[in-house]
Amino acid sequence: MRDFTIENLTEIVHEEYVSKTSDPRLREIIGSLVNHLHAFVKDVELTEKEWFEAIQFLTATGQMCDEKRQEFILLSDTLGVSMLVDAINHPRSGAGTETTVLGPFYASGAPEYPMGSSVVQVDTGGTPAFVRGKVTDQDGSPIEGAVLDVWSASASGLYHMQNPEMLEYNLCGKFTTGLDGKYCLATELPGPYPVPTDGPVGKMLDACGRHAMRPGHLHFIITADGYDSLTTHIFTAGDRYLDSDAVFATKSSLVREYEECEDEELAKEYGLQVPFRLLDFDFGLMRT
Ligand code: BEZ
Ligand code: FE
Repeated sequence: MRDFTIENLTEIVHEEYVSKTSDPRLREIIGSLVNHLHAFVKDVELTEKEWFEAIQFLTATGQMCDEKRQEFILLSDTLGVSMLVDAINHPRSGAGTETTVLGPFYASGAPEYPMGSSVVQVDTGGTPAFVRGKVTDQDGSPIEGAVLDVWSASASGLYHMQNPEMLEYNLCGKFTTGLDGKYCLATELPGPYPVPTDGPVGKMLDACGRHAMRPGHLHFIITADGYDSLTTHIFTAGDRYLDSDAVFATKSSLVREYEECEDEELAKEYGLQVPFRLLDFDFGLMRT
């Protein structure tokens, strides 16, 4: 029989395990994972104590997950893995709006609103903001029937599901474009907020001396028949965390200024109080 050694173990795992995996893509992924994991363990000469701490960390990460909390997505986000996956799957082409992370706070099933409505069901003290623009294809033609699913955190930095006292889907809503591809909605000016730090990922950030803040942003998923779904943010220009997003998800093309606005006519039409902040942002979708 063979002895397993530092030198031969990776090769033996490949022979006995990886090479017997019949699905070719799974074989490729498991093979590469084994290579990188073994190389990592050898590189840092992992101690048994560290190995067990890693097991406890991953166990705690899993135990923190439920239908409202996804600590593994947060782990992936804060290690830059989510943005690597994003970059590989949505290479910069210069056409269409750039993508960014989904994040752990998307809840499907948000209420559908008529165009121009407010998603503020409960005022959380944020600055009123009106967001408008159009959804077009890569040639700039308007897309009819595009669904914009929008969500954001409140002025206190919490998403509705993070606050048991908050009304479900506050600051969330779905809007469908008409023939002109235009959209508009009222919300609150999104400010910076920390990713959740009360779990193992928070401890990891702290141990590494990394802050947990994200720059203010509005989340969007935009879908339309015949087009790739677009998961993105609009980041608030001037935010002090734009250069150090805890999840590495900023892209300069997604940063936009909210103008101070006192347009009485617009305010009257959409039931806004002046002054409010006005943001113009057009989305470009790519044909599938
Ligand atoms: C968010 O923007 O909702 C988010 C994204 C990644 C990690 C934590 C929060
Ligand atoms: Fe967010």
